[in-house]
Amino acid sequence: MVSLTLLNALAVCAGLANAQTTTLQAESATLSGVTVATAVAGYSGTGYIEGFDTSTDAIKFTVNAITSQLYDLKIIYNGPYGDKYTSVVLNGAGGSQVSLPATTAWTTVPAGQVLPNAGSNTIEIQNNWGWYLIDAITLSPSAKRGPHQITTTPVNPKANTGAKTLLKYLGSIYGKNILSGQQDQASLDWVTTNVGKTPAILGSDLMDYTESRISRGASSTDVDKAIAFAAKGGIIAFCWHWGAPVGLYDNSSQPWYSGFYTAATDFNISTALADTSNANYTLLIKDIDTIALQLKKLESAGVPVLFRPLHEAEGGWFWWGAQGPEPAKKLYRILFDRLTNHHGINNLVWMWNSVAASWYPGNDVVDIVSADTYSQGDHGPISATYNNLLALTNDTKIIAAAEIGSVMDPAQLQAYQADWVYFCVWSGDFISGGSWNSLDLLKSVYSSDYVLTLDEIQGWKNRT
Ligand SMILES: *[C@@H]1O[C@H](CO)[C@@H](O)[C@H](O)[C@H]1NC(C)=O
Ligand SMILES: *[C@@H]1O[C@H](CO)[C@@H](O)[C@H](O)[C@H]1NC(C)=O
Ligand SMILES: *[C@@H]1O[C@H](CO)[C@@H](O)[C@H](O)[C@H]1NC(C)=O
Ligand SMILES: *[C@@H]1O[C@H](CO)[C@@H](O)[C@H](O)[C@H]1NC(C)=O
Repeated sequence: MVSLTLLNALAVCAGLANAQTTTLQAESATLSGVTVATAVAGYSGTGYIEGFDTSTDAIKFTVNAITSQLYDLKIIYNGPYGDKYTSVVLNGAGGSQVSLPATTAWTTVPAGQVLPNAGSNTIEIQNNWGWYLIDAITLSPSAKRGPHQITTTPVNPKANTGAKTLLKYLGSIYGKNILSGQQDQASLDWVTTNVGKTPAILGSDLMDYTESRISRGASSTDVDKAIAFAAKGGIIAFCWHWGAPVGLYDNSSQPWYSGFYTAATDFNISTALADTSNANYTLLIKDIDTIALQLKKLESAGVPVLFRPLHEAEGGWFWWGAQGPEPAKKLYRILFDRLTNHHGINNLVWMWNSVAASWYPGNDVVDIVSADTYSQGDHGPISATYNNLLALTNDTKIIAAAEIGSVMDPAQLQAYQADWVYFCVWSGDFISGGSWNSLDLLKSVYSSDYVLTLDEIQGWKNRT
């Protein structure tokens, strides 16, 4: 069969015409601001590329495809300078952010999929974080994916009808549509006014309900707004920018209101969780109990919640992720146990928000896996991350794009089978500033048949 045959592969790797995998050497591609090197042994071909240190640095591969079809892309790299990200851009439009974990060996990493046009295409590796070495890329025709294996039974055996129905509803649209979502009521209102459609999901935050912030003057009406939006038939998602209960620096460079950041506190999750009798463990439980009151209020109002605590843990920039995966997973399980078993809160659909397998707290405490991705101007399907999340649970959990900067193009979501069940654009400039998303693009996304809006999900509770 000659279904593959990327023509320029013949020049680089003679005899691969019928092969299923085509390898393209970086040293044979067009280089901008980077150079060929040979010092680190073990590369393929005649060298590798180094010198990624400026935003415009790039390797451009030219790929001739006979037919347009999806390919799995992999990158062979070396990462002696720590964890980095690169961007993969097909034909100059948008790009997928790809994680390149630290390694001192030449390593092959999945970089999502590309859908070349029939004819000539370019695939660019762009700097992003820089500071990695690139040996080659490989392309293989993507296997057709079978039906999803997801479960839509909540992990909390006592989940109430609302939570059960919500998860089931998400399962019913998974792979067929994507729900639109917007963080923050004011930004959601901006969408309604300027785009002319209202998102299906309101993203909210439990941030300003804990003691360390209330005592410094913070207050919130997010729970009341969520109840009001649910009454209009919308779906509610909550994250929790959990300010550390003690140890905030609270100075001009690290003010108290940044207290969820690792950089703003010396609160140490490892020592706090080391034993259940120390004062800081008690403070964590106290904060969880405070949040429980708000979640109960939502439960009493009949509002199921897509609940996403300890988000972005693997990034390390929030104190709950600052000491590595073990304490973060432990705290997540403490939260699950305290809220479900101690408080008997049953309106939650439990979301996890890190991608790496080492950070995964377990199938028994997670209903939905998700990622937050911010890649300015990238309106692609974020398929590398989606596929990593598929692999994380072997396709047994629904997958969501819980926070994004630039909104995804619905046509590409479908072409790449990147079946994110919802997207939620972050608040403020991300949605309304014009640089992450133009108004024209937002109008076209929001009017797509693939994208569900508030008016289109009315009665979702009765649809499953
Ligand atoms: C705030 O406190 C942190 C931790 O002590 C310190 O590193 C930083 O320099 C302080 N900033 C200012 C402006 O004092
Ligand atoms: C609790 O955390 C604070 C802030 O990091 C720290 O100063 C204190 O020593 C901790 N207490 C215990 C008992 O570990
Ligand atoms: C936090 O505590 C752990 C265990 O007690 C310790 O190994 C680690 O160095 C501490 N981290 C910081 C930043 O103090
Ligand atoms: C997915 O499948 C692999 C291989 O069968 C297994 O090792 C892994 O534990 C599974 N992951 C989950 C989250 O069930």
